[in-house]
Order: sequence, then C-alpha cells, then structure tokens
Amino acid sequence: QVFRIEDYRPTDYIISHTRLDFILSPHETVVTAELDIQRRASTPAGTPLVLDGDELECVSVEIDGESLPEAAFEATPQKLTLHEPPSKAKFTLRIVTRLDPSSNSTLMGLYLSSGVYCTQCEPEGFRRITYFLDRPDVLSIYTVRVEAPEQTAPVLLANGNMIESGKLDGGKHYAVWHDPFPKPSYLFALVAGDLGMLRDEFVTSSGHKVDLGIYVEHGKESRATYAMDALKRSMKWDEEVYGLEYDLDVFNIVAVSDFNMGAMENKGLNIFNDKYVLADETTATDADFANIEAIIAHEYFHNWTGNRITCRDWFQLCLKEGLTVFRDHEFSADQRSRAVKRIAEVRTLRAHQFPEDQGPLAHPVRPRRYREINNFYTSTVYEKGSEVVRMIRTILGPDKFREGMDLYIQRHDGDAATIEDFIKVFEEVSGTDLSQFSLWYHQAGTPNVAISASYDPAKQTFTLDIEQSVPPTPSETRKRPMHIPLAFGLIGPDGGDIKPSATDGATVANGVIHIKKRKHTVHFHGIASRPVLSINRGFSAPVTIAMEQSAEDLLFLARKDSDLFGRWQALSLLFTEALVQAFRAVRGQKTPVFDEGLIRAAGEIAADTALEPAFRALALTLPSEADIARDIGANIDPAAIHIAREALLKAIAASNAEGFAEIFDAMNLEGPFRPDADSAGQRALRNTLLDYLSVADGNADRAATQYRTASNMTDKSAALAILAHRFAEDQRSADALADFERKFGSDPLVMDKWYQIQATIPGTAAVDRVKALTQHKGFSLSNPNRVRALIGSYSSMNQTGFHQEDGSGYRFFAETILQIDKGNPQLAARLATAMRSWRSLEPVRREAAREALTIIATSKNVSTDLRDIIERTLA
Ligand code: ARG
Ligand code: ZN
Repeated sequence: QVFRIEDYRPTDYIISHTRLDFILSPHETVVTAELDIQRRASTPAGTPLVLDGDELECVSVEIDGESLPEAAFEATPQKLTLHEPPSKAKFTLRIVTRLDPSSNSTLMGLYLSSGVYCTQCEPEGFRRITYFLDRPDVLSIYTVRVEAPEQTAPVLLANGNMIESGKLDGGKHYAVWHDPFPKPSYLFALVAGDLGMLRDEFVTSSGHKVDLGIYVEHGKESRATYAMDALKRSMKWDEEVYGLEYDLDVFNIVAVSDFNMGAMENKGLNIFNDKYVLADETTATDADFANIEAIIAHEYFHNWTGNRITCRDWFQLCLKEGLTVFRDHEFSADQRSRAVKRIAEVRTLRAHQFPEDQGPLAHPVRPRRYREINNFYTSTVYEKGSEVVRMIRTILGPDKFREGMDLYIQRHDGDAATIEDFIKVFEEVSGTDLSQFSLWYHQAGTPNVAISASYDPAKQTFTLDIEQSVPPTPSETRKRPMHIPLAFGLIGPDGGDIKPSATDGATVANGVIHIKKRKHTVHFHGIASRPVLSINRGFSAPVTIAMEQSAEDLLFLARKDSDLFGRWQALSLLFTEALVQAFRAVRGQKTPVFDEGLIRAAGEIAADTALEPAFRALALTLPSEADIARDIGANIDPAAIHIAREALLKAIAASNAEGFAEIFDAMNLEGPFRPDADSAGQRALRNTLLDYLSVADGNADRAATQYRTASNMTDKSAALAILAHRFAEDQRSADALADFERKFGSDPLVMDKWYQIQATIPGTAAVDRVKALTQHKGFSLSNPNRVRALIGSYSSMNQTGFHQEDGSGYRFFAETILQIDKGNPQLAARLATAMRSWRSLEPVRREAAREALTIIATSKNVSTDLRDIIERTLA
C-alpha cells in the first residue's frame, strides 16, 4: 500500500478524551480504552468508524456501557470497524485488548526491556496497544491508570502529572496520570518497572518549579548526572533563545536498554536509549558525552516543536524533526565551540545525507509518498531538514527568523500543522516571497553549483560565472532552479575580506550571494587585486560546489581564511583531491606521491596554538574511506582507497613526526576528568596524533602505553582501536582486547565499543571475525545497540572488510538482516540502507552486491519495512 500526501483528509470522528487502564503482566496485559468520540458536524450520521490496529487481540467492545452485538462491529488484528456507529454526536467507545509485551520483539507498542515495561508509539506503535485513530492530527486528552505488582514494578509512569496512586490487594499497586495537553497518540508513553532514580528540579523563568527525574537501572544513577545537567542547560537555553518555558509540573526521562532509535519525546516522559543517558569518565567517550547533551536537548526541545505544535500527517515529519535538529545544533554550538560543531555537522551531513540524496533512496525533505513511514526517519528529513531551517535564518537574518518563530508558536500552539504553515509565518514577518525557496522541501537531490572565477585587473572587476543544477532522483527527472544562499568572502593578500564597491548579476547581501536562476554572472567591482574566493562559508547551503581552484589558492584559504569553517573546508578539499589522485595511482599500479605544501600545511595547523585543539584535530582527520569513495563516485574499489589513504597518512606522519610528538606530549591533561568541550578537544587532538605517531614509529609502543595508563574511556578506546586496527600481529593488541573484555564484559554499553573496534579492523579477515563475534556470549541479534555496534559498523565503517571481492561480506550481511527482520523489521530495514550505494562499486563487487540484495528480495516473509528499502535500492 502506498500513502500519498494528496490523499490527506481530516477524520470523520474526533476523540476528545482517552482514558486508558493497563493491568500489566508479562504475557497477558489487559488494556481497557475508553474513548470519548465525537462525530464532526460535517460527517453524516451513520458513517462507519474505522480504527487502526496492529496485531491486536480484541476482547470486547462496548458503546455507552452496552456491549456490542457481534454483527455491529468487525475486529481483526489490523482494524476495528463499527459499521453503524450511534447517530448521536457523542458517545463513548470502550475497547478491551489483550497484549503479550514479553514477546514483542519489534520494540514498537508496549514491550519489555530487561524486565521494564516501556512503550514506543511514534509513528504507528499506539495501534499495537489499542484500536485508535492512530494518526498525528487526532489530538486527545489522556488519563492513564497503570496497575502492576509492587515488587517487580515499584515505579509506574505515564505522561503528564500523577494525580492518584495507591495500594491494591495481592501485592499490587496503581498510579493514575493525567496530561492536560491534547496530544496525538504517538506521544503516549508508559513505563513500569524496578528502576533507580536521579532527582533534581528546575525553576522556570516565570517561577514555576518543575520536578526532574531520570530513571535508570539500579546502581547506575550516578551515570545520569551529565544527562541531568544537560537537561537543565537545555531548559534554560530554550527560555533564553526562544522564550519557551516548560509547561508541566514534572519532566521524566527513562533510560531503556532495548530501543530502536536514539530517544523519544513523549510528553513529559521522554524515553531514551540508555546509550544516550548513561555516561561517566570510565565508561563513556567524549563523543558519547556530546551525543547525550545533543539528544537530551533535542527531545526536550520537541516539547514545543513537535508536541505543543505537532504534524498534520507523517509527510510533515520534517516540520518537527528538521526544526528540532536545527534547535539542538544551535544549542550545542552555544554550549561548545561553534566552528567545531559546524564542521562536525557538515561531516555528518556529507557522510550520511549526501549519499542518501545521491542514491536510490533519495526523497524530498517533505516526501510525497511512502509505503512504510518508519523508513522516512532519515538523514534527509532530519539533517537536511535542519539545513533548510538554517537557510531560512540566513535569508531573513536572525531577528526576522526569531519573529517568525514567535509567530509560528503563537499561531499554531495546539495545532497539527504543515510545512506550508511554517513557511507562511516567515513570509509574513519578513514580507519575503519564499515560494521558490520552498523547493528545498519538495525537490530531492543535492544541488550542484558550478563556479568559475576570473579577475580583470584593468577593470578591477572580479567575475563569477555560476550555474546551478539539480540531478535527477527517483521519480523526479526534471528539476526547477532553487534559491541557494551562498555565504562567501573575497579574500585579499593579507587574509582580510575585501569589500567590493558595487556588485551586479545577483542579489548579494550581508556576505551572501542569492542564486535563484539557473545561471548568474556576478561582477564585483572596485577590486584592486585578485582575491581568493571563499565560498559556501559555514556551509550556508547543503550543495556540492564544482570549482577549479588552484592548490595554491586552497592552501592560502587553509592558512588565511578568516572563517574557520572555510579553513577546514579548504584543507579537506586538498586532502580529497590528493586522495583521489592517489587512488588513481594505486589503480594504475603506481606509488602515490603527495604535494609537500599540503604535508607541511598539516604540520602547521597541528602546531598552530592560536587554533583550538578540537579544530586542529578535525583538520588533521583525513576524509574517511567512505568519503573518498563518494568523491570518486563510480567504479569504487575499496581496497585501493584504503591503500591510498594509508599512504597519505604515512606521508603526513613521516614528515611531521617530531612536531606531532611535541604536541602529543603537550596535550597531556592533568587533574580530574572534565567532559567539557575544551578538555575533549585536547583529548581529540592527542588521539588523532597518536594514530599518526603510531604510523610514524611503525610500532605499538605508544598505543600500548596509553591503553595501559589511560584513566578515561576516550583515551582507552582510542588506544585500543589503534592497537587492533594497526598492530593486530602484536601480542599487545590481543592482550588489550582481552583485558578490555575482562574489565567491561558485564557492561553491555561499554562492550559495544569492543564490538565496534573489532568490526572495523580493515582487511579480508573481517567477515570471519564479525561472524565469530555474533556468537560471543554478550552479543544478541535482538538488541539494537549490539547489532549496530557489530553489524552496523562492519557494513558502514569497514570498507575493505565489508566490500570483499568474493561477495562474502554481502552474503553474510544479507543472511544476518533476514534473521533480524524476523524479530525487528525496523532495525533490519535501517541496517539494509548500508547497501544503498552499491551501484557505484566496480563491476565485480557490484554484481556480488546485487546478488546479495536479490537474496533478500526473493526471500519469503520479508517485512514491509525491509522490502520497501530493498526494492527501492534495487530499482
Ligand atoms: N521522534 C524521535 C526523535 O526524533 C524519533 C522516534 C522515531 N522512532 C521510530 N520508531 N521511527 O527524537
Ligand atoms: Zn526528533
């Protein structure tokens, strides 16, 4: 079945109040739903009422206290149909369903995770709990009663505020929760279990006290302190930056160990993958801390952008997700280093969204059709969606942007809104026509901007010939020109920006060229000497740029651009070009050679103490093998890419070893561990250099020492990765892996690092190694974190290990996915996207990949989720 945006129409009935009663039991949970239903004035009396279900067992149906005769309704696992509902305008429908949470392996609906009852309802999980109008435009007020044995479930949580609780016979107890804010069913949540709690409070700017709670496995409460701190900072930030306050008396977060995604913004009761809550210095890396901060903020920010204003239908998913990602990006930028955060975002966008947009799974930020909505929680909807919001701010400026946001909140609070509603508020406050701009929501594909620059010394004019194009994507062959805001600088010999006396050919305002037509010729007048162009500063538009820029100019930008992002971008362009050339040399059986200037620039940036260490670490991080593959574009041979990248790494290491060693020693942090951005940056630089130095030394000494002496997980896991990836033959490598397992064997989240490090050891032995690890006692195909750590990182981060010429990597992957699909289709479908770029492989691997995809496509009983991904990937 295909869902189309143009088929949207409001429901015939609304559900004003929803009263739920849960009698929890692992195998037989009984749910009683009492729905206050109203027929809309426009709905003819007697119009059938059809409620969604998914694998439901219906026990009974009553209307206004009268049980319904068999003929009056039809209940299947997939839906409940009332052929002739009462003709009066309001009635109460009472439905009893029976669930088996313990055998729910899909992690949608109500399930048990390590003995804790929890729910995941977005997007269509509520229908696995009871029959409902399970769509985001049906807003209802919920009152929820939860009953369970006190012994196994002392904690009983749901959305909103607790209004009643008490003891019952037989060792049971109950709690009643009421959420005064009307909400769609996807925001419903319930948790019950034996959990520890970290408690705190926050007083909002208007003086309202909010009780904060983070629930975790007993004994892990202290590992939630960083998350709590991040929550309070998020609450403060949203007040300061957007004037948005929290609106209930309680805000609870629960960490669960089986979760398909990162976290979920259920009203007043966020549920998190424990990976994004639990952290301390000995078990989590700096990257984990940063992720926790970002995701805690993201879910909290959804309270306004997502919950108070929700989506009309799932086509509008980016309305809440793109906007909320933008908000969490800005939060992290304010809490940490803006330039470093931006570079990290762009790296992620290029690594995940660009290949999605350039491959068979490409879709617009606001899709027009889907078969399985779960497959649209994508990098395009989230990350590109965020970039589109960022462009609105670039075009309008920060003040008009904030005015637009204020109007959006004021006008749509309580609504299920659309992208059109969102765009309209910005048009209104600014008087700007955003109709061309809105193509960013509707047109898939990464636009390319080709630029050629020329300078006329006689006329003192600098000219840019600019041409935009958007490549064809599935089911969209012809594209219209877009409004692309390109931030830029014309850089003079001393590194400062030159201001032209006049420009023509395109609107140029506040350092941004607004490209709107297919072709523009832009003249900058009054330019006394040839400038160097710094283009798409801060990545103002999510596009690719094709421009001939000399290595000299790029080196100049890498050293001098006043925009830090521009410096990073220039250097990474130089690295990419060097790597692509090296790749061609390797394919032609030649030894790659590298430009001395580039090698030296790397050394200079490493040593430049005027730059923050985190920036230097990013600048020295070479494009990944997957990045290089994407830049090569076709006929990918991962083995040759690996050789080329190693050669550049060696060349940089060899020429700069001495300087690197000094910085490495200087970055040795003393004193107690701090997870802040500055300390993390120093560790990042030190560990980046550790890799180079290990290559330069040609031995495992430094890494082995660091592994032994490290007192935090960032340094320990970095050393372990170097030992495992570079010095597998050295006994100290095996020893360190064994030591790590001994120390952390009983901590699954930490063991995920151990799986991941081994899954990403390059080379053809990887497939057997990963196969063996699937048999490890701590591993399980039913836990998403384990699966992503081992199978996910193998397939997406180990280019040489996965893309083997004989296809063994793909076959193993296909078999594993099919097995996962039996229990958890969403997880299987998501993993399968690792194959999306198969057509750009060289012919032998391409054929092998096609065969593996065909194995899945022709298997019996493949889920809708997985089938959708595989069929689009093969199409
Ligand atoms: N709304 C959640 C977030 O962005 C993601 C939940 C998606 N869940 C799913 N099963 N697809 O934070
Ligand atoms: Zn979200």
